[in-house]
Amino acid sequence: MKLMLILALVAPVISHFAMAADQRQKPVAASAPSPAALAKKGDAERGKQAYVICSACHLPSGAGKADGSYPQLAGQHAAVLVKQMIDIRSGHRDSPTMYPFIQEITDPQVMADIAAHIEELCIPGNNDRYEGADAAQQIAMGKKLYEQGCIKCHGKNGAGNEEKYYPVIAGQHYKYLLRQMTAIRDGTRNNINKEMVKVIENYSDAQLVAISAYQARLSMPGVMCDKDGKHK
Ligand code: HEC
Ligand code: HEC
Repeated sequence: MKLMLILALVAPVISHFAMAADQRQKPVAASAPSPAALAKKGDAERGKQAYVICSACHLPSGAGKADGSYPQLAGQHAAVLVKQMIDIRSGHRDSPTMYPFIQEITDPQVMADIAAHIEELCIPGNNDRYEGADAAQQIAMGKKLYEQGCIKCHGKNGAGNEEKYYPVIAGQHYKYLLRQMTAIRDGTRNNINKEMVKVIENYSDAQLVAISAYQARLSMPGVMCDKDGKHK
């Protein structure tokens, strides 16, 4: 009786870890976003209060960090934000740094509120960029690749597509972009888009540098911050 009880308690934990390990070896397609959080209409005012827990890493402006450790979030589509929160919360996207903090957000309404607040923030646009002596060549090479393989989903200005959960890329940090592009190509990021992997799976490291250099220069008119840190 006692043993059965222990087994019953432990089994879901074991299967959780088994699943996490399995996912790490074998990247799986994007998870279905939680209908509960996505069905909620977010309240940006309330979200601003709840965002305090996030701003320690992503900063109050949503600018993240130039070293690429914490991504730029400002201006991201609410649906994309909710999806990423859910994926990281469930271990479907691996982030040991953010994982314990997102466990605190249990209410789908709070998730929707936070996403509504972040989406309203203007994109700072003073993000980390590739600044090497050959920057002009890298950006030109990256532009060609982007136009061939990425524009149809992420758009000319890196605006993505909210309905399809295609993220905004504009204003993102170069080092973060390079890290994500590498992880997506090499299968170490779990929540991926299979169509996107088909485009980049044969890219060389040099091509990933070029395409990240180009993406970090993308800018979305009307969503970028002006010099006072407000929307234009
Ligand atoms: C302790 C630091 C930390 C805290 C606190 C934190 N995050 Fe994160 N967050 C990260 C890191 C690190 C990543 C990047 C994970 C990776 O490298 O793949 C990330 C990634 C994200 C992403 C995915 C961004 C993208 O472009 O794909 C979203 C969305 C996000 N965080 C939202 C939040 C929200 C909302 C909160 C508050 C509820 C929060 N984070 C709290 C560290 C943190
Ligand atoms: C078929 C549509 C599609 C194509 C083509 C595509 N992507 Fe993506 N991309 C996505 C989706 C969807 C995600 C988010 C995956 C998820 O969360 O499950 C994504 C994620 C990303 C991210 C991570 C964003 C972040 O904030 O973490 C970057 C960077 C990116 N794509 C760049 C590119 C580039 C560069 C190309 C071209 C080489 C490309 N994508 C081609 C759909 C696409």
